[in-house]
Amino acid sequence: MLSSQSGAPGSQEFAVIARGVEKSFGALKVLQGVDLTVGYGKVACILGPSGSGKSTFLRCMNHLERIDKGFLHVGGKLVGYREHAGKLYEMRPNEVARQRADIGMVFQSFNLFPHMTVLQNIIEAPIGVKKLSKAEAIEDARRLLAKVGLTDKADAYPRTLSGGQQQRVAIARALAMRPKLMLFDEPTSALDPELVGEVLTVMRDLAAEGMTMIVVTHELGFAREVGDMVVFMDGGVVVEQGSPSELFTNTKTGRAKAFLSKVL
Ligand SMILES: Nc1ncnc2c1ncn2[C@@H]1O[C@H](COP(=O)(O)OP(=O)(O)OP(=O)(O)O)[C@@H](O)[C@H]1O
Ligand SMILES: [Mg+2]
Repeated sequence: MLSSQSGAPGSQEFAVIARGVEKSFGALKVLQGVDLTVGYGKVACILGPSGSGKSTFLRCMNHLERIDKGFLHVGGKLVGYREHAGKLYEMRPNEVARQRADIGMVFQSFNLFPHMTVLQNIIEAPIGVKKLSKAEAIEDARRLLAKVGLTDKADAYPRTLSGGQQQRVAIARALAMRPKLMLFDEPTSALDPELVGEVLTVMRDLAAEGMTMIVVTHELGFAREVGDMVVFMDGGVVVEQGSPSELFTNTKTGRAKAFLSKVL
């Protein structure tokens, strides 16, 4: 149980508020007090060296990892915990699942179900978790497939698709749950360079529609163009954050400068 400090001022006004988030795996302290605030409809791009805790932080937001200290609000609600009489209690698995349904996550490896067609991949959770009727789920799925440019692939199996197509299906599948927040963990890192653009285009459209997004990425062009804020993580903390021009052009910290000089 965490000590109760959930009453973040203004927790309703922001899509995501992280304060002092700490997480260890055994003796390894991976998150050392992450602070981050992301407004509704904003896109935050997270950069940082390998091992800095970016994926772990995203996984905490979805309560795939339990945090050790600090607090994490998504959509005005504490992630994974319920407050009762000034104390915090971990949610039961069914409550966690309900909360997680509002957060879409897209990984580097697309994680589609190989034995299901594209359409089946997309309708599975809306029917199973959101209790949509099959007809409604299929209608939604076809609309989402059109949105990601894959109308003609509804009946294809994932193995017959290119990596870029599979990742666009994975995005459609996440959107089918009608999430309020989308988390992307290096969504284009596994793709051949010529397939990166089609996935970034889908993400750019999503941002333009007002989706709140947190994107771990090495695509600095995307971060500069689409990001409302860019966040540089190193050693389990947010070292520097700001608008893309602040972070890329007026980099303040030596650590961010050193990182950017290597990747730019
Ligand atoms: N389940 C786990 N058990 C033990 N250690 C873990 C676990 N998950 C992550 N770690 C460790 O935590 C550290 C941070 O990992 P994380 O995956 O969050 O980094 P990252 O910033 O996403 O790196 P990358 O850019 O390589 O994806 C690493 O040292 C990693 O080995
Ligand atoms: Mg990672």
